Amino acid sequence: MTTSSDSHRMEKIVSLCKRRSFIFQSSEIYGGLNGLWDYGPLGVELKRNLKNYWWRVMVHERDDIVGMDGSILMNRSVWKASGHEDTFTDPMIDCRSCKSRLRADQVIEKKGSKQCPICGSKDLTEPRAFNLMFKTYVGATEDESSITYLRPETAQAIFVQFKNVIEVSRKKLPFGIAQIGKAFRNEINPRNFTFRSREFEQMELEYFCRPEQGMELLEYWKEERLKFYENIGIPRDKLHVKTVSDDERAFYSKGTYDIEYDFPFGRQELEGVAYRTDYDLSQHQKASGKSLEYFDEETKQKFVPHVVEPSAGVDRTVLALICEAYAEDEAPDEKGKMETRVVLRFHPRMAPIKCAVFPLLKNKEPLVTKAREIVNLLTPHMYVFYDESGAIGRRYRRQDEIGTPFGVTVDFETLGEKDPALLDTVTLRERDSMKQERVRISQLAQRLLARIT
Ligand code: GAP
Repeated sequence: MTTSSDSHRMEKIVSLCKRRSFIFQSSEIYGGLNGLWDYGPLGVELKRNLKNYWWRVMVHERDDIVGMDGSILMNRSVWKASGHEDTFTDPMIDCRSCKSRLRADQVIEKKGSKQCPICGSKDLTEPRAFNLMFKTYVGATEDESSITYLRPETAQAIFVQFKNVIEVSRKKLPFGIAQIGKAFRNEINPRNFTFRSREFEQMELEYFCRPEQGMELLEYWKEERLKFYENIGIPRDKLHVKTVSDDERAFYSKGTYDIEYDFPFGRQELEGVAYRTDYDLSQHQKASGKSLEYFDEETKQKFVPHVVEPSAGVDRTVLALICEAYAEDEAPDEKGKMETRVVLRFHPRMAPIKCAVFPLLKNKEPLVTKAREIVNLLTPHMYVFYDESGAIGRRYRRQDEIGTPFGVTVDFETLGEKDPALLDTVTLRERDSMKQERVRISQLAQRLLARIT
């Protein structure tokens, strides 16, 4: 259940996202466009860190998975064969009074009759199937022969390139193809900030296997994916695994789990892990007339591989990271008086900026020079931010609010003015504990890298 404190928390998160340039409404100066969002300078870093980490653990650290990057527009036949053209629909009801278009499951029922949740009218249309794909035309003529769609999932590009990739990569089953990319769905009711958007990114793996391995690999990938979320800072107790029931599951799937997260607006899906059998490859084989079979050298058998698919949303995970990181605590201000501190406690691996470097005073040239040297020292290894304006406490606070895990302050001790033994040492401040310690400049990069990689 969502309480008013949860919705208050969500309002604060949305406002912070705008104020500190994580996420803006798309086309804002023209009044926006519903369900579409732009990532600002910090949001894009967070998103990139997430995608890079996914790619690292799913592709680079494994020898059974390779990557690909398919086109967004594909031959319309792909969407016919996959079933999207006929069945990728939501039932929709129109309210004739207020002209709202509603998903059928959002219409409320009172005393046995259906009502519009917006104006209360009972003058509603019958449910109609509404295809969620955005239609477009390829080429100069806008007719039936030039129709295609913006892809509603990245997966289909992997299925239709399966043969090319497996042949060139010389891989044996089980073997996977991973992809990160944009997907588009004309959602009837986009909502909950970026959670349900009309343009979003997916991180998908299609893991091809023998039929008898499917159920076991479904379990394996569910566990791997749960570990992934823990490794980016989402604790296990906020994650839930929902077993999708027989009647909710796609007819071709033999098992599907939804990995859900406790957002402030309720428990919602982050990722689906589905055993899709050989449905997709068989459909494309049938429709294209091209063999998508795999030849097993050991058994000398030819068959259409089965597939297990962990499919995660980039934007939903970014939103979960922000929601999880958002905290308010107490910290002393310049005069030692306690004040509320807003802090994003991102896992250092995900944090947009890894380290902020501050000269204690901006008008003391040796402090500024040393601080600039430290920026140059760290920049090849991580994203660093230099800030010399305002009181040091205020500078810390600005970084806390955007989740920078480490702050380095260059002071007079760094210059050896107070104690020669402290020459070339700096204060290293940790965001969450606010603890400070003296560290040698020569050890900084190594110390920080151990925490952020
Ligand atoms: N290839 C399988 C597939 O696309 P899905 O459950 O429809 O499955 C996978 O989507 C993931 O994509 C979801 O778990 C979610 O994270 C993300 N996703 C789906 N629709 C979305 C939307 N409208 N806005 C943001 N993310 C979405």
